[in-house]
Amino acid sequence: MKPVYILAIESSCDDTSAAVLEGDYLLSNVIASQKVHELYGGVVPELASRAHQHNIVPVVDLAIKQAGIKKEEISALAYTRGPGLMGSLLVGSSFAKGFARALDIPMIEVNHLQAHILAHFIKEKGEDHQSPQFPFLCLLVSGGNSQIVLVKSYKDMEIIGQTIDDAAGEAFDKCAKMLGLPYPGGPHIDRLAKEGNSQAFRFNKPQIPEFNYSFSGLKTSFLYRLRDEVAKNPDFIEENKCDLCASLQHTVVSILMDKLYKASKAYGIKEVAVAGGVSANSALRAAFQDYSKRYGWKIHLPKFSYTTDNAAMVAICGYFKYLDKDFCPIEAAPFSSVAI
Ligand code: KG4
Repeated sequence: MKPVYILAIESSCDDTSAAVLEGDYLLSNVIASQKVHELYGGVVPELASRAHQHNIVPVVDLAIKQAGIKKEEISALAYTRGPGLMGSLLVGSSFAKGFARALDIPMIEVNHLQAHILAHFIKEKGEDHQSPQFPFLCLLVSGGNSQIVLVKSYKDMEIIGQTIDDAAGEAFDKCAKMLGLPYPGGPHIDRLAKEGNSQAFRFNKPQIPEFNYSFSGLKTSFLYRLRDEVAKNPDFIEENKCDLCASLQHTVVSILMDKLYKASKAYGIKEVAVAGGVSANSALRAAFQDYSKRYGWKIHLPKFSYTTDNAAMVAICGYFKYLDKDFCPIEAAPFSSVAI
C-alpha cells in the first residue's frame, strides 16, 4: 500500500513550524522560534505575523528535505486553523492553501488545543511508545489555556474544567516579570525554584467551583507580597528569588493537581496525561509521578520537544482526520477564540 505522508504547518502564536509524518511516525519536525518578542516581555502579534512570513518557506522546505521525501509524494496538508493570533494563523493558513492548491492535495484543518493533546500519539522510529487509552483525562496547560479535557476518542473531546481568568503559564510569566526575569518566565521560575524552599512563602489557593481554575488572585497576592516586602527591604526580591520561585511554583502545581485529582475521582478515570508549554515544568512532572505512585494513575508526560508549539502534533491530528477523509474546503477561515 502507498505510504501516507502528511505535511503539517503550525503558526498559531510565535513559533513557525512544519513537520512530516509517515502514517503516525514522525519523519521531521522543524521549529523556528521568534526571539524578537523577548525585547518586549511578551508576544507582539504584528511582529509575530511578520516573522512567520519570513520563516515559513525555509521551515517547510527544511521539513520536507529532512523527511527525505519529494513534495509530490505528500498525501495531504494539515494546518492549524485556530485558536491563536489571527495574523499568525493567516500566514500559516494562506501558505497552506496555496501549497495544497499547487499540489492538488486535500487540506485538513486542525484545532491547536486538540493537537497538543494528540501529540501523545506521535510515534518515533526505534522507540517503544505507549499511547494513552481512551477515555483519558488531559491537563492542558499553556500560556493561553488551563483546561481539564475528557478525551473520549481522537475526535471527541470535552472540556470539563477551565480557567475563568488567567492561564497557568500566564501566571508564571507575569510573576516572573515582577521578579525581573526575562520572557517567557516559566522556564526561569522552574530553574530558580530548584534552589529554593517551596514552603518559604504561602499564597492562598482560589476557591473555584467544579473543575475550573483561577490564577488571577494568585498573581495579585504575589504582587502585593512583593510590594509590601520591598517597602521594608529594597533587596527582598534578590535575597529571596529562589524561595519565591519555589513557593509560587508549588502553589500553581498544587492548584492544578487538586482539580485534576477531583476530576479523576469524579469520572473514575486513572489514565491521565498532561500537554502544553507548562507540561515542561519539572515540579508538575514530579507531581504526576507522585500521583501515579499514590493513586495508581497511568500517566503520560510528553517529550519536551512536544511541549512547545510544534507542527508534529498538527500532523498527527491531520493523519487521524485523513483516515476519516475529514478534509476541509479551501475557504475555511482561521478562528482566534478558544474552542475544542
Ligand atoms: O503551549 P505554549 O508553548 O504556548 C502558548 O500558550 O503560547 O506555552 C507557553 C507557556 C509560557 O507561559 C511559558 O512560560 C510556559 O509555557 N512554560 C513553562 C515552562 N516551560 C514553558 N512554565 C513553567 N515551567 C516550565 N518549565
